[in-house]
Amino acid sequence: MQITYYGHSCFEAVLGGKKILFDPFVSDNELAKNIDINNIKPDYILISHGHYDHVADTVSIAKQSGAKVIANFEIVQWLNKQGVENTHPMNTGGKWIFDFGKVKCVSAVHSSSLPDGSYGGTAMGFIIESQDANFYYSGDTALTYDMKLIGEFRTLDFAFLCIGDNFTMSVDNALIAADFIKCNKIIGMHYDTFGYIKINHEEAIKKFSYQGKELVLMKIGETINYK
Ligand code: NI
Ligand code: MN
Repeated sequence: MQITYYGHSCFEAVLGGKKILFDPFVSDNELAKNIDINNIKPDYILISHGHYDHVADTVSIAKQSGAKVIANFEIVQWLNKQGVENTHPMNTGGKWIFDFGKVKCVSAVHSSSLPDGSYGGTAMGFIIESQDANFYYSGDTALTYDMKLIGEFRTLDFAFLCIGDNFTMSVDNALIAADFIKCNKIIGMHYDTFGYIKINHEEAIKKFSYQGKELVLMKIGETINYK
Protein backbone atom coordinates (compact mmCIF):
# COMPACT_ATOMS: atom_id res chain seq x y z
CA MET A 1 0.00 0.00 0.00
CA GLN A 2 1.02 3.58 -0.66
CA ILE A 3 1.24 6.35 1.92
CA THR A 4 1.82 9.99 0.93
CA TYR A 5 2.66 12.72 3.44
CA TYR A 6 1.24 16.23 2.98
CA GLY A 7 2.68 17.70 6.18
CA HIS A 8 1.58 18.05 9.82
CA SER A 9 -1.00 15.25 10.40
CA CYS A 10 -2.13 14.97 6.80
CA PHE A 11 -1.52 11.64 5.06
CA GLU A 12 -3.12 9.86 2.16
CA ALA A 13 -3.26 6.06 2.29
CA VAL A 14 -4.36 3.94 -0.66
CA LEU A 15 -6.50 1.04 0.52
CA GLY A 16 -8.30 -1.32 -1.83
CA GLY A 17 -7.61 1.14 -4.63
CA LYS A 18 -9.34 3.97 -2.72
CA LYS A 19 -7.50 7.06 -1.54
CA ILE A 20 -8.11 7.91 2.11
CA LEU A 21 -6.97 11.37 3.23
CA PHE A 22 -6.48 12.21 6.90
CA ASP A 23 -6.76 15.68 8.50
CA PRO A 24 -6.03 18.00 5.55
CA PHE A 25 -4.08 21.09 6.63
CA VAL A 26 -1.93 21.99 3.66
CA SER A 27 -2.52 25.41 2.09
CA ASP A 28 -1.83 27.32 5.34
CA ASN A 29 1.11 25.10 6.30
CA GLU A 30 4.33 26.97 5.53
CA LEU A 31 6.23 23.67 5.39
CA ALA A 32 3.85 22.27 2.75
CA LYS A 33 3.89 25.25 0.40
CA ASN A 34 5.08 23.06 -2.48
CA ILE A 35 1.91 20.97 -2.30
CA ASP A 36 -0.98 22.08 -4.48
CA ILE A 37 -4.25 20.95 -2.92
CA ASN A 38 -5.86 20.91 -6.37
CA ASN A 39 -3.82 17.77 -7.03
CA ILE A 40 -5.20 16.00 -3.95
CA LYS A 41 -8.19 13.97 -5.07
CA PRO A 42 -9.17 11.48 -2.36
CA ASP A 43 -12.17 9.16 -2.30
CA TYR A 44 -12.56 9.62 1.46
CA ILE A 45 -11.48 12.22 3.99
CA LEU A 46 -11.20 11.27 7.67
CA ILE A 47 -11.20 14.06 10.24
CA SER A 48 -9.99 13.37 13.78
CA HIS A 49 -11.24 16.61 15.39
CA GLY A 50 -12.31 20.17 14.62
CA HIS A 51 -9.12 22.18 15.08
CA TYR A 52 -7.99 24.29 12.16
CA ASP A 53 -4.72 22.40 11.71
CA HIS A 54 -6.83 19.29 10.95
CA VAL A 55 -9.84 20.57 9.01
CA ALA A 56 -8.48 23.60 7.15
CA ASP A 57 -8.65 22.31 3.56
CA THR A 58 -11.50 19.86 4.08
CA VAL A 59 -14.24 21.91 2.43
CA SER A 60 -12.21 22.73 -0.69
CA ILE A 61 -10.80 19.23 -1.15
CA ALA A 62 -14.19 17.61 -0.48
CA LYS A 63 -15.86 19.88 -3.04
CA GLN A 64 -13.23 19.48 -5.75
CA SER A 65 -12.96 15.68 -5.36
CA GLY A 66 -16.44 14.69 -4.27
CA ALA A 67 -14.81 12.67 -1.49
CA LYS A 68 -16.98 11.32 1.31
CA VAL A 69 -16.01 12.95 4.62
CA ILE A 70 -16.01 10.75 7.71
CA ALA A 71 -15.94 12.64 11.01
CA ASN A 72 -17.82 12.97 14.27
CA PHE A 73 -21.44 14.10 14.16
CA GLU A 74 -20.73 17.74 15.05
CA ILE A 75 -18.03 18.18 12.41
CA VAL A 76 -20.30 16.59 9.80
CA GLN A 77 -23.07 19.06 10.68
CA TRP A 78 -20.59 21.93 10.31
CA LEU A 79 -19.45 20.60 6.91
CA ASN A 80 -23.06 20.13 5.75
CA LYS A 81 -23.70 23.83 6.50
CA GLN A 82 -20.82 24.69 4.18
CA GLY A 83 -22.23 22.69 1.32
CA VAL A 84 -20.28 19.45 1.81
CA GLU A 85 -23.03 16.89 1.44
CA ASN A 86 -21.18 13.61 0.93
CA THR A 87 -20.57 12.85 4.59
CA HIS A 88 -20.74 9.99 7.08
CA PRO A 89 -21.19 10.93 10.75
CA MET A 90 -19.63 8.70 13.41
CA ASN A 91 -18.67 8.97 17.04
CA THR A 92 -16.24 7.47 19.54
CA GLY A 93 -16.73 3.74 20.00
CA GLY A 94 -18.52 3.23 16.72
CA LYS A 95 -17.41 1.33 13.65
CA TRP A 96 -18.56 1.17 10.05
CA ILE A 97 -17.54 -0.94 7.10
CA PHE A 98 -16.71 1.10 4.01
CA ASP A 99 -15.63 -0.29 0.63
CA PHE A 100 -11.94 0.23 1.54
CA GLY A 101 -12.18 -1.42 4.97
CA LYS A 102 -13.41 -1.00 8.51
CA VAL A 103 -13.16 2.24 10.47
CA LYS A 104 -13.37 2.10 14.26
CA CYS A 105 -13.47 5.38 16.16
CA VAL A 106 -11.47 5.33 19.38
CA SER A 107 -10.99 7.84 22.14
CA ALA A 108 -8.44 10.63 22.00
CA VAL A 109 -7.69 12.87 24.95
CA HIS A 110 -7.76 16.32 23.35
CA SER A 111 -10.12 19.26 22.81
CA SER A 112 -12.12 19.89 19.64
CA SER A 113 -13.70 23.11 18.43
CA LEU A 114 -14.22 24.27 14.86
CA PRO A 115 -12.43 27.28 13.31
CA ASP A 116 -15.52 29.53 13.65
CA GLY A 117 -15.82 28.65 17.34
CA SER A 118 -18.68 26.19 16.98
CA TYR A 119 -18.71 23.02 19.05
CA GLY A 120 -16.56 20.30 17.52
CA GLY A 121 -17.67 17.28 19.53
CA THR A 122 -14.94 15.13 21.03
CA ALA A 123 -11.61 14.35 19.43
CA MET A 124 -11.17 10.82 18.08
CA GLY A 125 -8.56 8.46 16.74
CA PHE A 126 -9.20 5.80 14.11
CA ILE A 127 -8.34 2.14 13.72
CA ILE A 128 -8.44 1.10 10.08
CA GLU A 129 -8.64 -2.56 9.15
CA SER A 130 -8.35 -3.41 5.49
CA GLN A 131 -7.03 -6.07 3.14
CA ASP A 132 -3.92 -3.98 2.60
CA ALA A 133 -3.02 -3.16 6.21
CA ASN A 134 -4.32 -2.60 9.72
CA PHE A 135 -3.27 0.63 11.35
CA TYR A 136 -4.08 3.20 14.02
CA TYR A 137 -4.24 6.95 13.39
CA SER A 138 -4.07 8.64 16.79
CA GLY A 139 -5.20 12.15 15.82
CA ASP A 140 -4.17 14.67 18.48
CA THR A 141 -4.09 12.99 21.85
CA ALA A 142 -2.35 12.64 25.16
CA LEU A 143 -0.89 9.29 26.05
CA THR A 144 -3.82 7.38 27.49
CA TYR A 145 -4.24 4.00 29.10
CA ASP A 146 -7.15 3.40 26.69
CA MET A 147 -4.53 2.72 24.02
CA LYS A 148 -3.93 -0.62 25.74
CA LEU A 149 -7.35 -1.72 24.50
CA ILE A 150 -6.13 -1.28 20.94
CA GLY A 151 -3.10 -3.48 21.56
CA GLU A 152 -5.18 -6.10 23.28
CA PHE A 153 -7.78 -6.61 20.58
CA ARG A 154 -6.11 -5.62 17.32
CA THR A 155 -2.97 -6.55 15.42
CA LEU A 156 -1.53 -3.46 13.80
CA ASP A 157 0.97 -3.30 10.95
CA PHE A 158 1.90 0.29 11.79
CA ALA A 159 0.53 3.42 13.46
CA PHE A 160 0.47 7.15 12.88
CA LEU A 161 1.24 8.76 16.25
CA CYS A 162 1.50 12.43 17.22
CA ILE A 163 4.95 13.16 18.64
CA GLY A 164 5.42 16.94 18.77
CA ASP A 165 4.66 17.49 22.48
CA ASN A 166 3.12 20.72 23.87
CA PHE A 167 -0.35 20.06 22.33
CA THR A 168 -0.12 16.25 22.17
CA MET A 169 2.09 13.30 23.07
CA SER A 170 5.85 13.77 22.99
CA VAL A 171 8.32 11.37 21.40
CA ASP A 172 8.78 9.71 24.81
CA ASN A 173 5.02 9.37 25.29
CA ALA A 174 4.63 7.97 21.78
CA LEU A 175 7.21 5.31 22.67
CA ILE A 176 5.00 4.22 25.56
CA ALA A 177 1.94 4.40 23.30
CA ALA A 178 3.72 2.10 20.83
CA ASP A 179 4.10 -0.42 23.67
CA PHE A 180 0.44 -0.03 24.65
CA ILE A 181 -0.78 -0.66 21.09
CA LYS A 182 1.86 -3.40 20.57
CA CYS A 183 3.19 -1.86 17.38
CA ASN A 184 6.84 -1.39 16.49
CA LYS A 185 6.49 0.64 13.31
CA ILE A 186 5.43 4.23 13.92
CA ILE A 187 4.99 7.05 11.43
CA GLY A 188 5.36 10.35 13.27
CA MET A 189 2.98 13.27 12.84
CA HIS A 190 2.09 16.65 14.40
CA TYR A 191 5.69 17.90 14.72
CA ASP A 192 7.77 20.80 13.34
CA THR A 193 4.81 22.76 11.87
CA PHE A 194 4.80 25.45 14.58
CA GLY A 195 7.46 26.72 16.98
CA TYR A 196 5.89 24.88 19.90
CA ILE A 197 6.25 21.45 18.32
CA LYS A 198 9.68 21.44 16.71
CA ILE A 199 11.55 18.22 17.42
CA ASN A 200 15.06 16.85 16.97
CA HIS A 201 14.59 14.21 14.26
CA GLU A 202 17.80 12.30 14.85
CA GLU A 203 17.26 12.08 18.60
CA ALA A 204 13.63 10.95 18.14
CA ILE A 205 14.60 8.22 15.67
CA LYS A 206 17.38 7.04 18.01
CA LYS A 207 15.04 6.84 20.99
CA PHE A 208 12.81 4.48 19.02
CA SER A 209 15.62 2.36 17.67
CA TYR A 210 17.13 1.90 21.17
CA GLN A 211 13.88 0.17 22.07
CA GLY A 212 13.77 -1.98 18.96
CA LYS A 213 11.15 0.19 17.29
CA GLU A 214 11.13 2.18 14.09
CA LEU A 215 10.10 5.83 13.85
CA VAL A 216 9.51 6.99 10.29
CA LEU A 217 9.58 10.75 9.70
CA MET A 218 8.38 11.20 6.13
CA LYS A 219 9.36 14.15 3.97
CA ILE A 220 6.48 16.37 2.92
CA GLY A 221 5.37 15.28 -0.54
CA GLU A 222 7.04 11.89 -0.12
CA THR A 223 5.24 8.64 -0.97
CA ILE A 224 6.32 5.38 0.57
CA ASN A 225 5.28 1.87 -0.29
CA TYR A 226 4.39 -0.14 2.72
CA LYS A 227 4.35 -3.95 2.36
NI1 NI B 1 -5.84 19.70 17.91
MN1 MN C 1 -3.44 19.74 16.12
